[in-house]
Amino acid sequence: MTLAPKWVPVWLAIAFLASGCNPPGKPTLPQTSGRPEDLKDFDALYSSNCAACHGKDGTLGPAPPLNDPLFLRIVPDAELVRVITEGRAGTPMAPFDHSKGGPLTTAQVKILAAGLKTKWGTPGVMTDVPGYALAPGGNSEDGMMTFMMACASCHGENGKGGKSGEQRVGAINDPAYLALSSNQALRRYIITGRPDLGMPSYNEKTNRPHNFKTLTAQDVADLTSLLDSWRSPATK
Ligand code: HEC
Ligand code: HEC
Repeated sequence: MTLAPKWVPVWLAIAFLASGCNPPGKPTLPQTSGRPEDLKDFDALYSSNCAACHGKDGTLGPAPPLNDPLFLRIVPDAELVRVITEGRAGTPMAPFDHSKGGPLTTAQVKILAAGLKTKWGTPGVMTDVPGYALAPGGNSEDGMMTFMMACASCHGENGKGGKSGEQRVGAINDPAYLALSSNQALRRYIITGRPDLGMPSYNEKTNRPHNFKTLTAQDVADLTSLLDSWRSPATK
């Protein structure tokens, strides 16, 4: 659009006013002294730094859901601090701490890390859940056997895509998808599923064979190796 010169001052005035006003209905961030490093409120920090990827309420974003009680029970506090501080190399998760070139102070990183559990976690200890941290000793051939049992009903043989009821389920045996995910995130999905999208957790039976019981820690390690082996098309 080209504006006749006489309209330019009017548009400039509108742009100026709009930038200084909060339109009705738009949430206002809590008032602070105004410097970004003084912001200490979890909700404000989360919505301005994290919500675009992890979802407004911690679910249904393109990045892993953080509003997931099972995830929050298995992830160690120190790992939350670490991943927010340093990011995850090779993935869209960037470092957030000033010391790593990010926009937040160490105090703000700690508020976010602790706030995730306070806001979305449930207290209590869980036993018998495979641990969060990547574990060595996975075998991709055993992983394929487990995949046929626990995953293929939805993801299709070989993970090339399938269906769950009427819902289409996308391919995970896809180097382009896998290139955006670390093995740590893949392991986490195998344990927690994606309750926001209809994928069952390690011990839920949804659309799995009736004799399916649970995924053991070894199954989880084997499946992680299998998915890792699909990263390169050469290894099929
Ligand atoms: C009841 C059906 C179902 C079963 C069983 C299932 N999934 Fe899923 N899975 C889904 C759905 C639905 C999604 C959401 C993405 C989509 O629709 O493509 C998903 C997503 C994923 C993702 C991608 C997560 C993301 O958002 O990036 C991975 C990885 C995955 N599944 C692995 C597995 C593995 C490994 C197993 C077996 C242990 C498994 N799934 C079993 C339905 C299922
Ligand atoms: C540009 C998108 C993006 C933004 C913004 C972002 N993240 Fe992430 N985050 C990701 C992705 C993608 C992953 C998964 C990385 C991987 O594959 O391991 C991730 C992983 C994580 C994990 C680990 C989850 C798991 O399943 O192990 C945590 C915790 C996390 N982010 C917290 C945050 C917080 C807190 C913020 C805001 C300060 C934030 N992220 C901002 C994209 C983003």
